[in-house]
Amino acid sequence: MRQILVAGNWKMNLLGAAGSSLATALAAKYPISAVEILVCPPAPYLVSVHARTSGSAVRVGGQNLYFAPQGAFTGEVCGDMLKDVGCSSVLIGHSERRQFFGETDDLLAKKVVAGLQHGLQVVLCVGELLSERQSDQTEAVLKRQLSGLAQVSAEQMANVVIAYEPVWAIGTGVTASTEQAQQAHAFLRSELKTLYGEQVSAATRILYGGSVKADNALELLSQSDVDGALVGGASLKADSFISIIEAGIQAMSLRA
Ligand code: PGA
Repeated sequence: MRQILVAGNWKMNLLGAAGSSLATALAAKYPISAVEILVCPPAPYLVSVHARTSGSAVRVGGQNLYFAPQGAFTGEVCGDMLKDVGCSSVLIGHSERRQFFGETDDLLAKKVVAGLQHGLQVVLCVGELLSERQSDQTEAVLKRQLSGLAQVSAEQMANVVIAYEPVWAIGTGVTASTEQAQQAHAFLRSELKTLYGEQVSAATRILYGGSVKADNALELLSQSDVDGALVGGASLKADSFISIIEAGIQAMSLRA
């Protein structure tokens, strides 16, 4: 059975004090948990958030990395550094990285390999634009974006999570319907089956992201191919993020 993962992507939000108090509240609430919990703060706060969550069920992840192991890459952070400050995961290919920073599938494939080589769990984000959905391109786009896995072996897939985030649903308050989410997730799982076979496809977690909130989380997480949530806005406050984690715990118990 796939364990539900609830991940918070803080993006470029929350200064040190606010992030620390959020991390402290989450760690206090979840010394242990039936679902996996991950928070991805901005890079300058990884150390402080990790200090406040270590020993709890809350793991810490980076929002991005650069694929080179070290060197003259001003402004970038490598996988070794993420590991060094206590990260166990990294988000790769978030749509904001693709849209605003020009990240291509080829570049992302290198980042995925780098993350795995450093022992990080890689959360590879995929998702179509509204125009692509409207022109019936969703599946073609998702298939193309899975090329981020081009150099990933079946064994390495144990450390890969896919996040389906339709771009039109991110930060807009518009959530994909449960049917739209389940349909896209089922398609991604069938593609994983083509790429890696039945066992890997059945074992890989596929998260949904895009305006996940306390009041829609349980319905989304109850879909058979939705194995967790990647949460932006609603992960910035302890009460709303905890409600989503609780929905995950409930959905997990319904799966058992
Ligand atoms: P949102 O963001 O929950 O604010 O829509 C999700 C994401 O971008 O990961």
